[in-house]
Amino acid sequence: MAVSAEHIRTLNKYEKTILLALERGMKNYSWVPLEQLKTTTKLAESEITYRLSRLIEWGMVRFNPVPYDGYALVFSGYDTLALGTLARKGTISALGTQIGEGKESVVYDALGLGPVAIKFHRVGGRSFSSARLNREYMPEEGHCPWLIASRKSAEREYLALTTLHPKVSVPLPIDNNRHAVVMSLINGANLNRCQLECPAEVLDDILANVRAAYREGVIHADLSEYNILIEDGRCVLIDWPQWTGTDHPNADTLLSRDIDNILAFFKRKYQLDYDRGDAMQWVIG
Ligand SMILES: Nc1ncnc2c1ncn2[C@@H]1O[C@H](COP(=O)(O)OP(=O)(O)O)[C@@H](O)[C@H]1O
Ligand SMILES: [Mg+2]
Repeated sequence: MAVSAEHIRTLNKYEKTILLALERGMKNYSWVPLEQLKTTTKLAESEITYRLSRLIEWGMVRFNPVPYDGYALVFSGYDTLALGTLARKGTISALGTQIGEGKESVVYDALGLGPVAIKFHRVGGRSFSSARLNREYMPEEGHCPWLIASRKSAEREYLALTTLHPKVSVPLPIDNNRHAVVMSLINGANLNRCQLECPAEVLDDILANVRAAYREGVIHADLSEYNILIEDGRCVLIDWPQWTGTDHPNADTLLSRDIDNILAFFKRKYQLDYDRGDAMQWVIG
């Protein structure tokens, strides 16, 4: 399931060709037929099946024999393609270890020009296969909702970071490829795991950043103590794929939920009692 730096380095050019052919094929198929791979890669069948067996062993590709021999890219194959491109562009030179895992991502530290974080979005997967049965959720393009949803999620997060940095304290956006976002590595713990010495200062700092984002037309919409990192006593707001514009019909509800989450956390943990209405007024004022 995890990305293996070893396999990225040793990926043979034919294996790369096949991963790319699968990525393209998945615009038209849930399971890409072997025949299709033969046509697009122009490789011999024996070469293709040998390379596929290695990719399957590494957990980058899956095989399904029914109703025809078909192959599908899975998350770690998609990770490998993104990393390959980011490495070729010089954005990343080495992948480190996993530093975070959330509902919809895995995050690694890595080496770029300096230390960076790389977040692979993982939207869908299992939850989409049942959704796919009731056809309503099928996106118009393609047969592979997780791939498209994960890419869109990353693009959306990257857009938020580029819009907000440096006016709002967010990680510096560095690059985006496919479902991966490369950003500066924040050296700090999630707010829920901190024991703050000056909680009121941090709360004011968070509200000031929520306000600054609002002024740029952006509401986080998933703000909580889990999506705030504390670096040298200052907050950094992370995890932006679900942001919404301040012109969204539910903007007020989403903003007040963000503010409520934060105030509730500071009340529970630090007995700070801020008035919700005042906080909301100050943020939008
Ligand atoms: N730029 C970063 N620097 C350091 N750690 C990060 C960074 N981005 C994310 N993380 C870590 O990875 C975890 C998951 O990232 P997050 O963006 O919150 O994704 P998810 O949607 O999966 O919750 C975070 O809680 C945090 O611990
Ligand atoms: Mg998160």
